[in-house]
Amino acid sequence: MGKLKALILAAGEGTRMKSKISKVIHPILGKPMINYVANACRNAGCEDIIIVAGDNMQALQTVEPNALFAHQKERLGTGHAVMCAGDFIKDDDIIFIAYGDGPLIRAETIKGIIAAHEKSEATATIVSCVFENPVGYGRVIRVNGSFSRIVEQRDADESEQLVNEINTGMACYNGKALKEALKELKCDNSQNEYYLTDVAPILKGKGLAVDICVGEHPLDFYGVNDRAQLAEAADIIKKRINTELMLSGVSIWDPANTYIGPDVSIEAGTCILPNTIIEGLCKIGEDCEIGPSTTIKNSSIGDNCTVTSSVLDRAEIHNNVSVGPYAYLRPGAVLMDNAKIGDFVEVKNAVIGKNSKASHLAYIGDAKIGDNVNFGCGAITVNYNGSTKSQTIIKDNAFIGSNSNLVAPVTIERGGYIAAGSTVTKTVPENCLTVARARQENKEGRAPKF
Ligand code: UD1
Ligand code: CA
Repeated sequence: MGKLKALILAAGEGTRMKSKISKVIHPILGKPMINYVANACRNAGCEDIIIVAGDNMQALQTVEPNALFAHQKERLGTGHAVMCAGDFIKDDDIIFIAYGDGPLIRAETIKGIIAAHEKSEATATIVSCVFENPVGYGRVIRVNGSFSRIVEQRDADESEQLVNEINTGMACYNGKALKEALKELKCDNSQNEYYLTDVAPILKGKGLAVDICVGEHPLDFYGVNDRAQLAEAADIIKKRINTELMLSGVSIWDPANTYIGPDVSIEAGTCILPNTIIEGLCKIGEDCEIGPSTTIKNSSIGDNCTVTSSVLDRAEIHNNVSVGPYAYLRPGAVLMDNAKIGDFVEVKNAVIGKNSKASHLAYIGDAKIGDNVNFGCGAITVNYNGSTKSQTIIKDNAFIGSNSNLVAPVTIERGGYIAAGSTVTKTVPENCLTVARARQENKEGRAPKF
């Protein structure tokens, strides 16, 4: 039994992007373009994902670690790219071909294409679509209503240029027929390239059936060749994601200015305010208020939280937590239930216990803070001595007075109370009041001299 395999062509140089990185690696809402195509193929049921890569091989392997890879050393055209993947194509396979620069394709659409191919029993099913503006795409030329050939824009004559049924680039082939037709492919066109689009006419010439599946939604087949098209594609994906979230019960005040990636889950009842970016793998609970002007990456947030004008990167927030305005939660920040991190507070690699607060102007790095701790305004953990990082441990019910310096490694035992302005370098015992600063001297009447 053969397999259903997806073959994604991604070896092109993408010169029109004018970019140092490969076109198909460019991110859309924080996720590389190629991932959208590969995931759509996976979700449509393709068992193997085979990517044809060029010089971008290493970069592609990093972002698509579960795919199989074929190498196209020289860019000799889309047909040549498929030849390079020949070892992966078995006689009984069904090969679905897509281009890595078409990130808008959806799994449902691919399922429909594969179903049409299986139903028709053709050896090849070409996917076309009627475009209002077909300029730049290859055109599908029919004779008596059925497939005849595909002509590229630059090779098309005047009447062919008027055809608005375009070649989407997607197609399904029976493995054996595809392999045999590839052997006969020539490069006698204006580009001297091996065009994949010539495979179907070769099959027809052998008396084999070629079918056309007309795609219903032009947006599915939008190709990204430059950065203006990249922004267009991103806008469409953004709309799809935001619409789905809103229909599931998430409020988005200003969908046009809210950027949520495809791997973000948000529960119903949560409200997202304008200028908010949520990227990577994120999970947000119910009844939260997120934003405005907030960036969240690879973080989790529980229920009933507010995050205002803040930046979160790999943070974990439990329930009923308040963050911001203007807080910065860096990797390893963990805020337990009812914690509060207020304005201009930075937290890195630190757990903040239940009901604990750092309401203003503080730095908490490499720390473990227990429950019901008040971390005063301007207080900081001194975690770095220029060469090593050390930990601060603050146990339950401690009070850290304003503008204190906790020089790590140091422990504040339960209920320890540190007077404002202290520089603490030694353990503070349980329930101890610690004052670690110079005593104030008052020199009466001396001020006018200064
Ligand atoms: C191609 C089609 C055109 C179709 C359009 C749809 C051909 C000859 N033309 O044109 O009919 O309307 O897509 O978007 O197939 N690639 C390789 N190796 C190569 C050349 C290209 O892997 O040697 C890859 C690219 O990375 C890209 C894809 O194939 O992902 C398409 O190549 P591109 O140059 O963008 O083709 P178009 O000119 O857009
Ligand atoms: Ca293209």
